[in-house]
Amino acid sequence: MKNFLIINGPNLNMLGKREPEVYGTESLEDIKLWTNAKIKSFATTTWYQSNIEGEIVGRIQQAHSEKYDALIINPGGYAHTSVAIHDAMKILKFPVIEVHLSQVYKREEFRHTLLTAKAASAIMSGLGKQSYYIAIKSLID
Ligand code: DQA
Repeated sequence: MKNFLIINGPNLNMLGKREPEVYGTESLEDIKLWTNAKIKSFATTTWYQSNIEGEIVGRIQQAHSEKYDALIINPGGYAHTSVAIHDAMKILKFPVIEVHLSQVYKREEFRHTLLTAKAASAIMSGLGKQSYYIAIKSLID
């Protein structure tokens, strides 16, 4: 069994209610249950969500002394601004995959800079709820 930490940043707790034409109608809990059902024979996951930058930094730091095979992170809006989350991601000794549910390059210009992605091993954008599953599957394979 492989073990993955999945961190979601600000406003991702509002999935389902938030801009459904962009992010779909499922909640983060729905996506978690869907992902876990798909991967249950080969992986386990720990999900964490916070709207607060420092809490996300703290959770990533904590992961440094925990045993995960990878971190999958959707930093939300912090992807475009957070040097602190970028720096925390660089501390980790295991792979980090950054995911975005929407295709950020088709959206506003300010979303085209993915600052945190510079500290990620791989990035994915535009694959919706599949992102977490595909990230886990690709790391396993
Ligand atoms: C997002 C894209 C970001 O630009 C936005 O601020 C989010 C969600 C995504 O999953 O597509 O909160 O990370």
